[in-house]
Amino acid sequence: MKFNRRLVFICSGSDCKKAGSKKIRKELKEAATAGTLKGHCKFFQTKCMDMCKTAPMVIVDNHFCKKADLKSVMEQIKKA
Ligand code: FES
Repeated sequence: MKFNRRLVFICSGSDCKKAGSKKIRKELKEAATAGTLKGHCKFFQTKCMDMCKTAPMVIVDNHFCKKADLKSVMEQIKKA
């Protein structure tokens, strides 16, 4: 059985999409297939998390990445 170390939830609500969540998800998936995150993460797309003022929202395990970008999410994945 494959063990996924990090659960990453990426909001796909309209405000987060406008703020770039789609781009973050694409970049994270590329990192996952390119080897950087390979085997360490499982990604989930969510509906609005009701925290639109801090869009784009990403949750890594139980840590909320507000106004997330690729750098902050990657740092959290490595730290969490
Ligand atoms: S659209 Fe992402 S938190 Fe509302």
